[in-house]
Parts: sequence; C-alpha cells; structure tokens
Amino acid sequence: MEKYSQFRDRGSGIAPFFPIQNEPSGIYWSFHLFLFLVRLPILLTVTLGYFFVLQWLPIGSLGKKASLWLMLGVPGVWWIDLQIDGVKKGSLAKHHKARLPQPGSVIASSHTSPIDSLYLAAIFDPVFTISYPSTRLVQPVSLFHSILHAFQYPQYDPPPKATLTDLATLIRQHPHQAIVVFPECTTTNGRAILPFSNSLLTCPPGVKIFPINLRYTAADVTTPIPGTYIRFLWNLLSKPTHCIRVRIAESVYNTSQPSASSSSSSPGSLVNEDRTSSSDTLLGSEEVEGVTAGEKGVLNKVADALARLGRVKRVGLGVRDKEGFVKAWSKQRRG
Ligand SMILES: *[C@@H]1O[C@H](CO)[C@@H](O)[C@H](O)[C@H]1NC(C)=O
Repeated sequence: MEKYSQFRDRGSGIAPFFPIQNEPSGIYWSFHLFLFLVRLPILLTVTLGYFFVLQWLPIGSLGKKASLWLMLGVPGVWWIDLQIDGVKKGSLAKHHKARLPQPGSVIASSHTSPIDSLYLAAIFDPVFTISYPSTRLVQPVSLFHSILHAFQYPQYDPPPKATLTDLATLIRQHPHQAIVVFPECTTTNGRAILPFSNSLLTCPPGVKIFPINLRYTAADVTTPIPGTYIRFLWNLLSKPTHCIRVRIAESVYNTSQPSASSSSSSPGSLVNEDRTSSSDTLLGSEEVEGVTAGEKGVLNKVADALARLGRVKRVGLGVRDKEGFVKAWSKQRRG
C-alpha cells in the first residue's frame, strides 16, 4: 500500500479515498445472492418508475417523499439514528423545529454515497447543487443527477455547458425549498472531511446553514471510487439492512461577526482570532484564492462542525488529490 502514501493525510495518516471493503460473507453467501437477486428487479422497477414516470406527475411533495422512502426501503435502509445538536435524543418536539433545516435554509452535507441525496430528498425535498473548488458558483441539478454525481470523476472546474448560479439567487428562486450543498465537491469514504469549495460564501448573511453529517453502517455503501455502480448495488442489496447515522449541527450564518451582538469588535477586525491555526492551513491547500479572513472563518466553522459530527478529522487532501488517487488506483487494477 506504500505507493499510495501520498494519498494519505500527512499529519493523521487518514486515507479518505480508499474504498471500504466488504467483510467476506462466508457461508451466508447464497443468502446474500438470494437477497440481491430478489431485490434488484424491485429496486430497478421502483427507481425507473419514479424517475421516468411518477416524478413528472402531480403527486405532490408527499407522494414524492413516499416514493423515495420506498426506494430506500427496498434495500433495507430504514434504521435512521437521528441526533440534533442541543436536542435530547428522542425529544424532538414542535418547539425544536427551528433546529431543523426549513425551506429557505441551506444544508451543508458530507458526501460519501449516492444514498446521501436520496435520503435528503426523502426528508427535506430540497434543491440539489454541485460545488467546484475553482468557483464560488454552484450548479443546480436534479435529484437524479445528484445521485449519479456520487459515482462521477472528481471535477476541479465545472463542465463548460453547466448552468451556474449563486446560493442567494437559488434561495430567491426556490423560497419553498431548502438548498443542499456538498461543499467537499466530491465523495470520500467517510473517514475525513475534505477542504471546502467557496460556494457557501454566496449564502446571504441571514440564511441558516445547517451542517449535516451522514454516516453508514456498513460503510461499504460509500463510493469514493468513481464508476463503481455494480459494486455499490451488490453491497447495498445483498445485506439485509443498512443504518444511517444522521447528525445535524446548530446552524451557522454566513457572517464574519462572531455573533449578532458583537458591538465591541471594531469594523476592521474581520479575523476570528480564536480559530485554530491548524484548520486555517487546511483551506489554503486547495488554492483558495481571494478569501478574506472572515470568509475563511465561516468555512472553518462549517467544516469543523461536519468533522465533529462525523467524529473524523479534517484533512488537506482535496479534489486534485482524488484525481491522482483514482488514476493510480485504476492503473493498478488493470495491471
Ligand atoms: C458571506 O460572508 C462573507 C464574509 O464573511 C462576505 O464576504 C460575503 O459577501 C457573504 N456573502 C453574501 C452573499 O452576502
């Protein structure tokens, strides 16, 4: 494995792009094969039926969510372990609603699997976007496109034909939906948080940004390597159930001020001096150009929250490193 040492984080040794191996199923192999063969046609029917027919019919938000839950239910993704910062487990009452993403807010989610988009759609019915390291603008995409994006090659620049916009405009255009941003730009195996795109900085100051971390057990349904459709389907369908661990942090605002009542800070002091220097250097590694100290502070706050929720570290490896890793990985597979 030493030839991959450059794709490990130098400080921690974490390797965020390695696929997570399936534990060998031994004597249960025929049971897994049976599950896979029974579920595959059902999943294909439900998925194609939704994306090619139902989605275009006026089934409403509820009908949409019901179809998506069915899609999650077929492979047995129904153990959801939800925890919200500041809310005791099992006590989510009405007055805690402000702690959940609402229409008009932004969701900054970790990205490890195609199930991320499916789950977020089934809960929030949001608008999905793709972020890129080279621009602050985001590309609004459909749910289907967002799911496929988890299988795609990492892209540093947006494709030339992509429609790009900023979050402020998107929020204005979709006042009745939340907006999902995957600020890491590409998928990982869930063992680290990658450096962020600057896309969250186009969020207006008054809009809540909710960091959400999604984690899977077994973790082999993550797709850090592009194009692994078959492997993903096998891991997804051959296991009886899967659990999603959902963690939602307190919302963050896009403002360089530490809090709303910061009358003491002089107008010139944009820097949050208490930021740890180690996380400051992480943003520098993906050529984050033209970012003020205040803006860096906002991105750090969201990235720190995602890492804390996922109980993982932030690393300096980004989209460029994943490009290199995927190249090395597929060369070794062929040879
Ligand atoms: C977000 O906040 C940063 C400063 O923290 C600011 O430079 C940027 O303009 C803000 N974005 C919007 C859309 O207001």
